[in-house]
Amino acid sequence: MSHTDEAHGTRRDFLYYATAGAGAVVTGAAVWPLVNQMNPSADVLALASIRVDVSAVDPGTQITVPWQGKPVFIRSRTEEEISEARAVDVDSLPDAEAFNANLPEGTPATDENRALSEDGKWLVQMGICTHLGCVPLGEDGEFGGWFCPCHGSHYDTSGRIRKGPAPRNLPIPIATFVDETTIQLGEAG
Ligand code: FES
Repeated sequence: MSHTDEAHGTRRDFLYYATAGAGAVVTGAAVWPLVNQMNPSADVLALASIRVDVSAVDPGTQITVPWQGKPVFIRSRTEEEISEARAVDVDSLPDAEAFNANLPEGTPATDENRALSEDGKWLVQMGICTHLGCVPLGEDGEFGGWFCPCHGSHYDTSGRIRKGPAPRNLPIPIATFVDETTIQLGEAG
């Protein structure tokens, strides 16, 4: 059975096609409401898992997809972003834990423990500031990652908090590649 068939076959799987032309390629809070309106129905918000086609996401860009009523950032990182993230000494971080739902609690916040793919290209994280829940802006802030303008929290290119009042790194949801260009968010149904 193909992944598409599976998606049609169960209400718990929903294939979300994020294409460049659909207006889903966004980098910040300002455009989030637009994406939110694309949500087909409240039903979809409650789905345990969705599948996202990332074939149209170029390096150096990200998409924001709605999942369980919250924005999820899916970024295709550049080589530079990856090497910056990997050069950081974990002990110097305000939050030294990966905060990755795919790994045990307490796993160190190396970039390798946060990236979805081994090569570090893909970073998938909840787009919710760990201070008071604003949606951070992409490609912004002092560390070239995300910036939350609400109270000035700066996240690096691995989504780790580096400066400002946010106490934790951006959370990484359950996520996995189900084929080369499709990411599933959440547990399989
Ligand atoms: S909600 Fe992000 S800094 Fe306060």
